[in-house]
Amino acid sequence: MSEKPKQLLIVAHAPSENTVRLRDAVVAGARHPDISGVAVSVRNPFETEAEHVLAADGIILGTTENLGYMSGALKDFFDRIYYPCLEEKQGLAYALYIRAGHDGTGTRRGVETIVTGLRWRAVQEPLVCRGDFQARFVEDCEMLGMAMAAGLEAGIF
Ligand SMILES: Cc1cc2nc3c(=O)[nH]c(=O)nc-3n(C[C@H](O)[C@H](O)[C@H](O)COP(=O)(O)O)c2cc1C
Repeated sequence: MSEKPKQLLIVAHAPSENTVRLRDAVVAGARHPDISGVAVSVRNPFETEAEHVLAADGIILGTTENLGYMSGALKDFFDRIYYPCLEEKQGLAYALYIRAGHDGTGTRRGVETIVTGLRWRAVQEPLVCRGDFQARFVEDCEMLGMAMAAGLEAGIF
């Protein structure tokens, strides 16, 4: 009898061509053909509700850095899901990638403060795609998605 697939939720703000490439690379990595047993869903933060988080076994967060902080879209997501998920999802495995034109530290700090409050568990070092856009960012995002899905499949997370 096959096991129930693990649920991987990707919540990504992708307001530009480059950030769409990053999001799509995370999704492609997570849906790598060698990985089975993981159901991947990808959502815009504004369209992600607490019920989607409650159903997730792992979550990947993606945001731009705007004015020294995470995107308003990702902040809005956290504002809406925080209390409905606080008691239920402690220990949730998460990974984070940030697209920042020149910095990224304020965004990392902001997200980490919130997920510390939620007691989510980082399973990878945050990926900060900083500076002029590079093809390497796309590869790094693909690896991030793949590693998350592979870890869920293996039951490591
Ligand atoms: C209004 C605005 C504010 C921004 N503020 C920052 C910032 O504080 N730190 C930073 O590293 N990049 C900042 N950026 C750059 C964005 O992070 C970057 O343009 C975005 O991630 C999209 O990436 P792309 O330009 O490669 O498509 C800002 C961009 C805009 C439009």
